[in-house]
Amino acid sequence: MALPGTRRRTATAALALSLLVIPTPAAATPPAATAPATSSPAPALSSVIPAPVEVTPDARQTFHLGPLTVIRTQPGSPASRQIGTHLAGELRPATGYPLPVLPIAPRALPAISLLLGANEARLGDEGYRLTVRTSGITIRANKAAGLYAGTRTLLQLLPVEIDSPTVVRRTWAVAGGGIVDFPRFTYRGAMLDEARHFHAPAEIKAYIDEISRFKINYLHLHLSDDQGWRVQIDSWPKLTQVSGGAGTGVDGVGPGFLTKAQYKDLISYAAKRFITIVPEIDMPGHVNAAQVAYPELTCDGVAPPPRTDTAVGYSSLCIGSETTYRFVEDVIRELAALTPGPYLHIGGDEARATSDADYLAFQQRVLPLVAKYGKTAYGWHDIAKSPAAANAVAQFWGTGTSEPFLVTAVAGGTKVIMSPASRSYLDMKYDPSTPLGLTWAGYIEVQTAYGWDPATRVTGIGENAILGVEAPLWSETLRNLDNIEFMAFPRLPAIAELGWSPPATHDWQSFATRLGAYGPRWTLRGVDFYRSPQVVWS
Ligand code: ACM
Repeated sequence: MALPGTRRRTATAALALSLLVIPTPAAATPPAATAPATSSPAPALSSVIPAPVEVTPDARQTFHLGPLTVIRTQPGSPASRQIGTHLAGELRPATGYPLPVLPIAPRALPAISLLLGANEARLGDEGYRLTVRTSGITIRANKAAGLYAGTRTLLQLLPVEIDSPTVVRRTWAVAGGGIVDFPRFTYRGAMLDEARHFHAPAEIKAYIDEISRFKINYLHLHLSDDQGWRVQIDSWPKLTQVSGGAGTGVDGVGPGFLTKAQYKDLISYAAKRFITIVPEIDMPGHVNAAQVAYPELTCDGVAPPPRTDTAVGYSSLCIGSETTYRFVEDVIRELAALTPGPYLHIGGDEARATSDADYLAFQQRVLPLVAKYGKTAYGWHDIAKSPAAANAVAQFWGTGTSEPFLVTAVAGGTKVIMSPASRSYLDMKYDPSTPLGLTWAGYIEVQTAYGWDPATRVTGIGENAILGVEAPLWSETLRNLDNIEFMAFPRLPAIAELGWSPPATHDWQSFATRLGAYGPRWTLRGVDFYRSPQVVWS
């Protein structure tokens, strides 16, 4: 697909302002006269993914986005202005309209209004109320994140051609009525494995753009593993000099790592889309790349050979060595300083080369270090074996429905993010014919990815223990953005809906119908999605 920044901008601020000095009512005639070349109907309010909480259609009202439409933002709110500017940038390429972003709405002009101060407690921080009338569209929210979520919904209420990268001559109707919407869970994540194959910042940004359309609000970056180390750490420079270098991907593909400047730029790019970055350094296993760069991280001081195969469970930090804790603290300190988000993910999975006693000793030292640098520790659910994980977040990645030690940890305060591998792992093949991906957690067709409930998946771990859901995408077989897109779409929206929408809305037939109607949007954006035979694609 096209990478960010390559879309054509069709309007300038000067043109926008020149239009505003001639706001005669006559000029505000709806643009129905400009013969449409295509005529897909205005999508129903109920077609949105993830399904909104409440939808109230009003057939007497229809808004037409036209050449005189303005985007009105909350006076005095830079966040509202930024969201309005972002939305205008998304609506201009297909419409060709100037869509000026203003803190006022001239009376004669139709407006899309993005207003704060909803004063509605149930909307929380991320909810919104969207109202479509013939005279205009209003999105109201308590917080900027809710306004942004409302604009994600609005994009889906415009005809699919709104995603065309070039001007489409047609009317741009939005069906009348109202939506009240807010998330079921506060954490709705996606994960990208940067270690097995490095994906460059432009590819990560393109993925951020796509996942944010489904109201995903966290992106977890898996930044180290046996094959490679993918983020600059100043106090241990050989991590990236050696293990971010040539041939460090699976099968010896490509060099790559994020410099600190690139990492910070990704954080701000994501933040503009209300996505928080969660960095992961996997330990005490999955550390071969670190040990190749620094042999003192092994117990015998001998550098292991670099590995570009996909075996797991063979490497371990030296648990009894103080060098290990100097290394871990330096990495945590530097990453915490770079990362504004609340979480620091410390891995903890598949530590098969670490004894149980050593594993517990390691977590006893390392979990408090995350808190020392002001972050909440987050790890694969194996970390919950440690009593030190009481204030941590555990990411359930099992294939089964029973995990007694995790239930015990939850009773002691540990919170859970649900990523059951046999449902939410986007790197599993859809079926035996899928050219990419793995099979160890089974085949995951779209209906399987959609057909589970986070609050009943694991016995004894209910709604109150769960912060949310995450869809991990491991990249052993995924080299480029097209590969990522093919595995993520359409399953990522399934996980997004489980995380956002109330259980009462969960319905496979409804979801499949909405997905089928969504397909042309991916096509227009150049997203390489999987045309599942379970879905009737428009
Ligand atoms: C994992 O899939 N090893 C967390």
